[in-house]
Amino acid sequence: MAQTLRHAFAAPMDDLVLKAVASVDDDRHLLADDVRGSIAHVATLAAAGVVSSGQAANLTAGLERILAEGLELALEDEDVHMAVERRLEDLIGDDARLLHTARSRNDQVALDLRLFVDARQSDLRDALGELIEALEAKASEHRTVVMPGYTHVQRAQPILFAHALLAFRDQFERDVERLAIKFVSPLGAGALAGSAVGIDPAFTARTLGAAGAFANSIDAVSDRDFAAEFVFAATLASVHLSQLAETLVLWCTSEFGFVRLPDALTTGSSLMPQKKNPDCLELVRGRAGQSLGDLVALLTTLKGLPVGYNRDLQETKPPVIRVADTVRTSALVCALAIRELEIDAAAMHVAASDDGLFATDIVERLVASGVPFREAHERVASVVRTGRAFTSLTDDDWRAFDIAPECAGIFTPEASVASRTSPGGTSPQSVRTQLARPRRT
Ligand code: ARG
Repeated sequence: MAQTLRHAFAAPMDDLVLKAVASVDDDRHLLADDVRGSIAHVATLAAAGVVSSGQAANLTAGLERILAEGLELALEDEDVHMAVERRLEDLIGDDARLLHTARSRNDQVALDLRLFVDARQSDLRDALGELIEALEAKASEHRTVVMPGYTHVQRAQPILFAHALLAFRDQFERDVERLAIKFVSPLGAGALAGSAVGIDPAFTARTLGAAGAFANSIDAVSDRDFAAEFVFAATLASVHLSQLAETLVLWCTSEFGFVRLPDALTTGSSLMPQKKNPDCLELVRGRAGQSLGDLVALLTTLKGLPVGYNRDLQETKPPVIRVADTVRTSALVCALAIRELEIDAAAMHVAASDDGLFATDIVERLVASGVPFREAHERVASVVRTGRAFTSLTDDDWRAFDIAPECAGIFTPEASVASRTSPGGTSPQSVRTQLARPRRT
């Protein structure tokens, strides 16, 4: 197949150079967006009187056929833009040669990536929405289950299991809110300077459902802020997904034993017959690293660029394509894991009844009886220092520490969580309020 765009050259492009500069492998993901952009461009050319209505119909029909049939991108095409133009010429003949009027591959690729981001951020919002729903459903189903809450992975205070699930829900809601990158159309910027052909970029923008058109044609072709914002938002979501995955991996160990993943979600060992491993969650955790790498790669590509389009910008596509796919899959895996998670409420209750978890309850009761907080903290700390279980102390023992026995008393995790009535806290009432609040997204 002949190389394209070589009429001014005395020699074909060196094979190695062609392989090094071609973007066809990444561009396969952008084919539909590229063709959609071209269909909008045809409408713009027709509105400006650059092509006749017959030519516009011919061009549009050819492009729609490519959209329906798909297209194999050949290395010789160099990129999706030239591949589509070549195929269009095969399909409709000379009219195809009008298509590239008043645009360049620079504004074209910027548009393709914008369309891609716009669609993928919506897919990712949907996947995270599924996870949010799963977390809320699980929290609602197990709203009275108590468990130990942790700081530093050390048992801290009793909490409601639902409260922990809703903490993740809140993170993912923020992620969804962040995935709201505005779609501005760069088409019509040309290579950098705009066009002498009287086309209206705002018309193209409206045709594509964009929020508006570019204001500066040089910025339009080199701006990849939207890509960086998307990769950042998706990567932060992947960090949150990784935290959820890590939490579930811990909770389903025999050491914690709070939850279990059903067989359909676990993988076996090639050697140890008893193993049922949470590999799908470990890979959610592992792949967050890959996304972080992609974010750094993208920003690093941008940082050295002088004003205007530079070919380095081609390298902003792989991070966007990879992160969109990886993070969506991770969100769906987590949604499935949460939906199917089996809960061992009894094991959580036993762990939440650990004596030491009630130290703060005693402090807070002393505070309620008028003891200054720091003083109360020190009195309870003196008991802790003895290493004795609170339940083993007699009334006289408590008095010896200047603690009224009624401030010590019998503790249950249920009573402990019930006392934490402050807004956003772990009391059943507060968790009910958190659960009932309308979805922000
Ligand atoms: N393949 C290129 C990319 O992905 C398209 C733009 C090429 N522009 C150019 N002037 N060579 O960025």
